[in-house]
Amino acid sequence: LTSIIEKRISLHKKLKDLQQENEHLKSEAEQLERLAILGTNTAMIAHEINNLLTPLSNYAQLALQNSEDRRLAQKALTKTARNCEKASDFMQSILNLSSQSKNEKELVKISDLVSDAFKCIGRDFKRDCIKVKTDIPDDLEIEAVRVQMQQIIINLVLNARDSMLSGGGTLHISAEKAGDNTVHIQIKDSGKGIKNEDIKQVFKPFFTTKNTPGGEKSGSGLGLAYCKRIIDKHNGSISVSSTFGEGTAFYISLPITAN
Ligand SMILES: Nc1ncnc2c1ncn2[C@@H]1O[C@H](COP(=O)(O)OP(=O)(O)O)[C@@H](O)[C@H]1O
Ligand SMILES: [Mg+2]
Repeated sequence: LTSIIEKRISLHKKLKDLQQENEHLKSEAEQLERLAILGTNTAMIAHEINNLLTPLSNYAQLALQNSEDRRLAQKALTKTARNCEKASDFMQSILNLSSQSKNEKELVKISDLVSDAFKCIGRDFKRDCIKVKTDIPDDLEIEAVRVQMQQIIINLVLNARDSMLSGGGTLHISAEKAGDNTVHIQIKDSGKGIKNEDIKQVFKPFFTTKNTPGGEKSGSGLGLAYCKRIIDKHNGSISVSSTFGEGTAFYISLPITAN
């Protein structure tokens, strides 16, 4: 009898542990979502602020070393004023993005999503020899959670940009109505493409091929996992096709009216 009682106690404890683990796993999915947003935004902010500050520091040092050169000082100050303004515009768009805590679906224009995404990214694609083409009917709208859709576009555009950083290329974003209640969005780049053995993995959380020059992981591998999760929640679908060495296209299909 004692042994039966002991067994019961031990089973009871096990059940409790499992319940706790279940709770834990449930919140993990939500954490993943928040981490993905945080990761993208942090990387974006760090990169952008660095881009704006580096030339300022270089100019200021040059001007200090050549304090007699008024033209140089003038140039340094002009650059400072301009980049400070850019930094504050950029920070404002990031703040706008994170203050939209509203998680309700509303009518969202695809063309606004794309232009807002570029405002948040803030980088000059021309500088990296990347041509951006958009082909989106102005009246095309879907019912969706705006901030989530923005994050999707940002993630896909940043991935496309990463893939073209070494040699430039073309980023083509298009959208069209397909059938009565569906919108198709395509984000296509002429970058380095995805290897055959990797393509099955790209939507898995933490899968990344991005490394620092030292060989450490530099990507979070959460961007596409986040995109897929959000698109699933909107009853849509996302897929990818890629040719290694030639480029990649992501296709999104979303219902126009939510159900
Ligand atoms: N446009 C693209 N071109 C080439 N590879 C891509 C592209 N988009 C995604 N990938 C691949 O998918 C992986 C996962 O992407 P993602 O989930 O956004 O994570 P991360 O960007 O942090 O690596 C990338 O590391 C890369 O290997
Ligand atoms: Mg990414």
